Amino acid sequence: MNMKKRIISLVCIAALSLGLFAGCGKKQEATTEAPADGKKEIVIGFSMDTLKEERWQKDRDILMARAQEKGVKILIQAANGDDNKQIAQAENMISQGVDVLMVAPHNAEVAATIVESAHAEGIPVLSYDRLIKNADVDLYVSFDNEKVGNLQGEYVTKMNPKGNYVYIGGAPTDNNAHLFKKGAMDVLKPFIDNGDINLVYEQMSKDWQPSEAQKHMENALTANKNKVDVVICANDGTAGGAISALAEQQLSGKVPVTGQDAELAACQRIVEGQQVMTVYKPIPKLAETALDLAIKMAKKEEVKTNSTVANGKIDVLSYLLEPVVVDKDNMMDTIIKDGYHPFEEVYKNIPEDERPAK
Ligand code: BGC
Repeated sequence: MNMKKRIISLVCIAALSLGLFAGCGKKQEATTEAPADGKKEIVIGFSMDTLKEERWQKDRDILMARAQEKGVKILIQAANGDDNKQIAQAENMISQGVDVLMVAPHNAEVAATIVESAHAEGIPVLSYDRLIKNADVDLYVSFDNEKVGNLQGEYVTKMNPKGNYVYIGGAPTDNNAHLFKKGAMDVLKPFIDNGDINLVYEQMSKDWQPSEAQKHMENALTANKNKVDVVICANDGTAGGAISALAEQQLSGKVPVTGQDAELAACQRIVEGQQVMTVYKPIPKLAETALDLAIKMAKKEEVKTNSTVANGKIDVLSYLLEPVVVDKDNMMDTIIKDGYHPFEEVYKNIPEDERPAK
């Protein structure tokens, strides 16, 4: 920031905190050049928890491409699972004068601070994929996350309506992890109540770490003398961890394991038989919808929503997309047809004469 801008901004912050005048502060720090048509360029900030799982890299790449297509500027930063870093990065974007701040929070509760800081500068906040709890979030764009859990539960109860079930969940700090679990448990409940299903082990996995999931699976196997009939894993990363633990006991491919995200590794495991299903959430749809709605918010245009989701403080206006079950049978009609992963990659370990026709 040059000295002149710094002085203007300091004067504005002081004026705002004294309540002297409105309309100052936010726009002063925008780093963008005015486009040729003379209108101010729209700047969207995106504060991400992580880029660890493959899907978040897709989110980032698609958002960047879409922003370019739409002629808006997007600033993206990922915090590597560190709450303080995420707050600092978000505050930095706020001070750069973004028009809208999108946030995929590491910690649903802690991120409420970010909403407060953004609102103090008149910047609306879009909760991206993961809901920020207990805050005046302006818009939430995600998938129907309880449905993700429903789909996992329905799939395995159809396959195996009886037996010993293990549930390996995601990060307790991520609101989605609770929604996925609720969705799965709603389906299991009648089976548990009538004694057909025994929930022999359930644990959440800190920061969605596959190594944590692997430890949970090892513990579940030990505690139940390897008598486990189904493993519901909240996502593909944790499924990978659980499958490693099953493999140590020569049980990989024998015990159905679920997942979510349609990661390439999971799609490969599905066609090879180590994982039964994943829940596919077409990330291009999420990223494009979120960006388009963020642009509308920036232009103060009407934003269409299709739902509301309670976050502990308010019913947040929401736009929720539909998740899709993917297994061996519909891999071609979903992942391959959409170009989400290339055919050659998904089927790379399957002998050519056993691959489905393209
Ligand atoms: C997302 C999942 C992802 C997980 C771990 C969740 O909030 O919805 O798609 O696998 O976080 O990053």
